[in-house]
Amino acid sequence: MGATVNFETPAAHAQSASKGSLIGRIKSSAGLRKLAVYLLFQPRKSRPRAWVRWLANPFVHTYGRGSVVRRVRRDLVPFNDFELGAGSILEDYATVSNGMGSIVIGARTLVGIGSVLIGPLRIGSNVIIAQNVVFSGLNHGYQDVTKPIRDQKCTAAEIVVGDDAWIGANAVITAGVHIGWHAVVAGGSVVTRDVPPYSVVGGNPARLLRQYNSASQLWERVSASA
Ligand SMILES: CC(C)(COP(=O)(O)OP(=O)(O)OC[C@H]1O[C@@H](n2cnc3c(N)ncnc32)[C@H](O)[C@@H]1OP(=O)(O)O)[C@@H](O)C(=O)NCCC(=O)NCCS
Repeated sequence: MGATVNFETPAAHAQSASKGSLIGRIKSSAGLRKLAVYLLFQPRKSRPRAWVRWLANPFVHTYGRGSVVRRVRRDLVPFNDFELGAGSILEDYATVSNGMGSIVIGARTLVGIGSVLIGPLRIGSNVIIAQNVVFSGLNHGYQDVTKPIRDQKCTAAEIVVGDDAWIGANAVITAGVHIGWHAVVAGGSVVTRDVPPYSVVGGNPARLLRQYNSASQLWERVSASA
């Protein structure tokens, strides 16, 4: 993300603007927004300035008791939430970026090595996220063929991951996808549609492979046409 990105969804923008808060006023004025971006971000870099990381974020973001953050790239801004629940772990070389929307992670959740979390994103408790998983709550606009894609507005839609889910290595989860409780995403999947609870999905695009049947108490194969 660069310093020119739009920070929020239209709905979130309307909500914060209507509150009449300082942040809402800044977000609804192009001039103030430009100034805020300059003060918050290093020019031409997607990283927040050092003062933001050291003097602002620690007062607004929350880290639960016993949570662990290893060598993680934290591209975090103070005007969106970042929460890491008790006992949760962000492993080495993970990246978290909340410029486009909040990131909220429940308790006892593991974010594996090299995974990339781009908000808006809400992850439940007891979730296992394996290595190099990418969650992107943002999409770049590409529709205007007269402008480079990097100059077009981003859109955002919240990704939600239910409790007890397991996301296999190298999976990609696209904006707006909801993954149900205790669902499994197979390694290498590209998930573009919602995943029901107690199911296994896999492939590109990810398809339903298995579903738990509470009557038979078995994980049953789902035919390709389902
Ligand atoms: C999904 C997974 C858990 C398989 O679980 P399983 O219950 O043992 O299921 P099976 O091996 O019987 O496979 C079930 C079906 O899913 C398919 N499948 C399995 N893994 C798949 C994958 N990565 N992509 C697409 N399809 C996959 C199988 O081909 C099989 O299809 P079929 O029913 O048409 O034969 C496993 O393959 C996987 O992806 N694990 C992720 C491992 C990982 O990322 N570890 C990192 C450390 S946390």
